Amino acid sequence: MSIEQLESIAQAMVAPGKGIIAIDESNNTIKKRFDAVGVPNTEENRRAYREMLLTTPGLNQHISGAILYDETIRQSTKAGVPFTKIMLDAGILPGIKVDKGPFPLAGFPGELVTEGLDGLRDRLNEYAKLGAKFAKWRAVITISGEAPSGTCIEANCHALARYAALCQEAGIVPMVEPEVLMDGAHDIDECYEVTEATLRSLFASLYEQNVMLEGTILKASMVLAGKDCPEQSEVEDVADATIRCLKAAVPASLPGIVFLSGGQSDEFATANLNAMNQQGPHPWPLSFSYGRAMQQAALSLWGKDMAANFASAQAMVAQRAKANGMAALGQWKKGM
Ligand code: 13P
Repeated sequence: MSIEQLESIAQAMVAPGKGIIAIDESNNTIKKRFDAVGVPNTEENRRAYREMLLTTPGLNQHISGAILYDETIRQSTKAGVPFTKIMLDAGILPGIKVDKGPFPLAGFPGELVTEGLDGLRDRLNEYAKLGAKFAKWRAVITISGEAPSGTCIEANCHALARYAALCQEAGIVPMVEPEVLMDGAHDIDECYEVTEATLRSLFASLYEQNVMLEGTILKASMVLAGKDCPEQSEVEDVADATIRCLKAAVPASLPGIVFLSGGQSDEFATANLNAMNQQGPHPWPLSFSYGRAMQQAALSLWGKDMAANFASAQAMVAQRAKANGMAALGQWKKGM
């Protein structure tokens, strides 16, 4: 696949007023989400839940793509239509999570490195045949005491760059996600420093590994105070700090940046994205790739009664997609 084709996929992912829904929870992670609403974590419930999300009427108005998990990309609707067909017919790009999750970084207690490079070339080629147009790899950076170490940042960014190069070889747009966790009592300035150092290391690694930035999407965490910080960040502070940090570290040739929600409330995640876009124009489109901030309201409805609340859960997904789509344009208003 040519760089032009990768570039056009990347541009479609961040088309004006559109963003990504992340539904790529591993079977362990979805268990935590299902447990919270009392849904047994069976393969059929996971399939039924993802069918509810992906068949939301009008989903394609504000959603350009969905990130799936290995099990999900092979699944179909109850009527037997593959999820990837439902998506491609609706103009929603199938994405696939390809990392194997974060593991303890040997020699650095409390720090994590994401694994999954072994055999990745073959897995990517299979996913491309199954219809995947983009992929995701998430690195996790923890702020705590002296952490993160430079070693942790570099090890994760090196892996992200190796993954990204393999994606492009397979004709898949890499979404590179170095998530600086919200966990902890750090303030917004500490988050800024760590995020800037991480992004600088990431783009240095991407450059070293010959990754074409024009065919790459960054999935970033916002710059904000940790969950346990006594001084919580206001929307305007998050927007100012995040934009300043991105401008300091992210090349303008990148076709787009999407944010994770990382445990923010639905409304905070939407308001922050909206405030950033109101400050635009920026060198790149800024949109969303939310998991929890797209799903949590819908999941709790669906979990109460899968059959009776099917349509109202879908209406909730559509509502969250619209709110975030408007925020991607800087046109969202509270209570919309
Ligand atoms: P959250 O928006 O729930 O953080 O999930 C996004 C995601 O895909 C993290 O990798």
